[in-house]
Amino acid sequence: MTRTRKHAVRRGIFITLEGIDGTGKSTQFRMLVQHLRRGGRAVCATREPGGTRVGEKVRAILLASRTGKLASLAELALIYAARAQHLEEVVRPALGRGEIVVSDRFNDASFAYQGFGRELGVGPVRAFDRVVCGSTQPDLTIVLDLDPRIALARAQGREVRRNSTRGRFESQGVRFHARVRRGYLAIAREEPRRVKVIDADRSVADIQHEIRCIVNEFLARRRR
Ligand code: ADP
Ligand code: TYD
Repeated sequence: MTRTRKHAVRRGIFITLEGIDGTGKSTQFRMLVQHLRRGGRAVCATREPGGTRVGEKVRAILLASRTGKLASLAELALIYAARAQHLEEVVRPALGRGEIVVSDRFNDASFAYQGFGRELGVGPVRAFDRVVCGSTQPDLTIVLDLDPRIALARAQGREVRRNSTRGRFESQGVRFHARVRRGYLAIAREEPRRVKVIDADRSVADIQHEIRCIVNEFLARRRR
């Protein structure tokens, strides 16, 4: 009798980093990716909007101040177009290879920015999300939480250092970002097992330490 061995379908792990502009996400993202790679993990490091050639083009439209007024639903549709490409080209293949995918922003950003910030509500975002992301949802999401006044000051400082002008989102101001922040906190309240909120009003090292603790614990639990 031939014995057939059943191979469990190996699936990677999907981790996302979220927060309003200027919370220090990109800084923490780079450090987390480095930490995981040094630990011998296969990591796919990516970001949204972007992560693919098509996505980077969409990102340029979304972020350029010269794009001017973009209808909120057009913005949402562009973001989900980029996300569909990103999922097909980058995220799903990497998860299929069993890698840890770490993304600097993903679908929670659409709920927070378009649903709450642009006040589209969660209905339209959910509809796009169901079609585009389906069952490919983050396993663990870390939200960096910070007062929008501090976050925007940080983001503006960065733009000055880079000698670039403020983008469409940063120029939305404190009230917009306060709504986005409320959006992230609402998501975290709804899904406390997946979404972990971290106080970002601390040193880079302290924040990174907490992120690593959360990620390490999550990975250890998954191995059991
Ligand atoms: P994001 O990706 O969330 O917009 P960045 O990582 O680009 O944020 O950080 C925005 C700016 O704030 C950068 O100039 C960065 O050096 C600075 N920064 C990042 N983390 C901290 C922190 N914990 N405290 C003070 N400044 C920070
Ligand atoms: P980015 O330069 O990545 O900002 P940061 O460096 O702060 O991460 O700009 C991405 C912008 O796009 C950011 O302001 C948030 C916005 N965005 C949305 O509005 N909806 C989304 O779904 C995503 C992924 C991003």
